[in-house]
Amino acid sequence: MANKLYMNLNAEAPPPRNKVTVVGVGQVGMACAVSILLRDLCDELALVDVMEDRLKGEMMDLQHGSLFLKTSKIVADKDYVVTANSRLVVVTAGVRQQEGESRLNLVQRNVNVFKSIIPQIIKYSPECTMIVVSNPVDVLTYVTWKLSGLPKHRIIGSGTNLDSARFRQMMAERLGIHSSSFNGWVLGEHGDTSVPVWSGANVAGVNLQKLNPDIGSDGDKEQWKATHKAVVDSAYEVIKLKGYTNWAIGLSVADLTESIVKNMNRVHPVSTMVKDMYGIGEEVFLSLPCVLNGGGVSSVINMTLTDGEVSQLKKSADTLWGIQKDLKDL
Ligand SMILES: NC(=O)c1ccc[n+]([C@@H]2O[C@H](COP(=O)([O-])OP(=O)(O)OC[C@H]3O[C@@H](n4cnc5c(N)ncnc54)[C@H](O)[C@@H]3O)[C@@H](O)[C@H]2O)c1
Repeated sequence: MANKLYMNLNAEAPPPRNKVTVVGVGQVGMACAVSILLRDLCDELALVDVMEDRLKGEMMDLQHGSLFLKTSKIVADKDYVVTANSRLVVVTAGVRQQEGESRLNLVQRNVNVFKSIIPQIIKYSPECTMIVVSNPVDVLTYVTWKLSGLPKHRIIGSGTNLDSARFRQMMAERLGIHSSSFNGWVLGEHGDTSVPVWSGANVAGVNLQKLNPDIGSDGDKEQWKATHKAVVDSAYEVIKLKGYTNWAIGLSVADLTESIVKNMNRVHPVSTMVKDMYGIGEEVFLSLPCVLNGGGVSSVINMTLTDGEVSQLKKSADTLWGIQKDLKDL
C-alpha cells in the first residue's frame, strides 16, 4: 500500500533536532511533558520510568493526542536507548520521604536512584543539558553534576524558578496587577529557606523598598513578609489538599525548556554551582539569576544583594554542604 501511495526519495529518517527526554512519568513528569508538548518545544519526546505499564499507558495516551500537537514522535521505554540524541533531559524521578525518615536518608536513597539514571542518560546523549526537578532539588543537582561528569553549565536545577513564580503571583495579586508585571526574585535554596530579594522588588522600575523601607522586615506595618511565608507554605498546602504539586512546576520547567531549546538568553532563577560567589567556599548548587541559552547556563547575574540576603545565602550553602559531605558513592 505504502509503495503505491508515495515514491521514497530518502528512506533514512533524519536525527531529531530538539529531542526532550523526561525521566519519571509521575505527576510532575507528566505535567512537564504536557507543558512542553503544548508549547511546541520539541520534535521528539521520550519518556522513561521503571513502572512499565504506567509508562506505556502515558505514552499511548499522549500519542492519541497527536492530532492536536506538533510533536510527531512520542516514544517511551524503560531502556534508555529510547532517549538517544536528546538535547535536553528533565529528571523528575525519585522516591518520596517515608514516615520518620531523615532527610539525609532520603537523599542517600535518591542518590542510589540517580546512579541508575544519570550514567544511562550520558551514555546515549553525551551532549545533552539536564534540568533536575526531583527533591531535594539543590542536593540532587549536585549529585547529577558529580555522576554525569558534565561541565557545570550543563546541569541546571529547577531551583527557585517555581518559588519565584509563586512569589510573583502572590505579590502581583496583592498589588492588583499581572504576575509578569511584578519583578521580584526568590533565590537560594528551593523551599523552606529560600531568600526573597526585597531590595530588588519593583513594578515598572519603581523600587518597592523605596516606597516602604520596612518591606519584608518584621517591623513592616503592611506585613509583606507574610507573602513570602505564603510562598514557602504553599507547597505544603497544595500537597495537603491534592496530594502533590504538578501543574505550576510543569509550566515552569517548560519555560526553562523554551529558553534552552530556542537559545534565548533569558534570565531565570535556577540552581547552579555557586562556589566562589558571594563568599561561598563549597561546591553547592543554589539558585541565582542565570542566563539560559542553547548551551545551558551561559552566565550568572551579579545581583546586588544586602548583607542580610548574602548571609541567608551562605547559611543555605552551609546547610546543603552539611548534607552533601556525608553522601556516599558519588
Ligand atoms: N523542584 C520542584 O520545584 C518540585 C516541585 C514538585 C515536585 N518535585 C519533586 O519531583 C519529584 C517527583 O514528584 P511526583 O509527584 O511526580 O512523584 P511520583 O511518585 O508521582 O513520580 C515519581 C516517578 O519516578 C519514577 N521512578 C522512581 N525510580 C525511578 C528510576 N530509578 N528510574 C526511572 N523512574 C523512576 C516512579 O516510578 C514514578 O513514576 C519528587 O522528588 C518531588 O518532590 C519538585
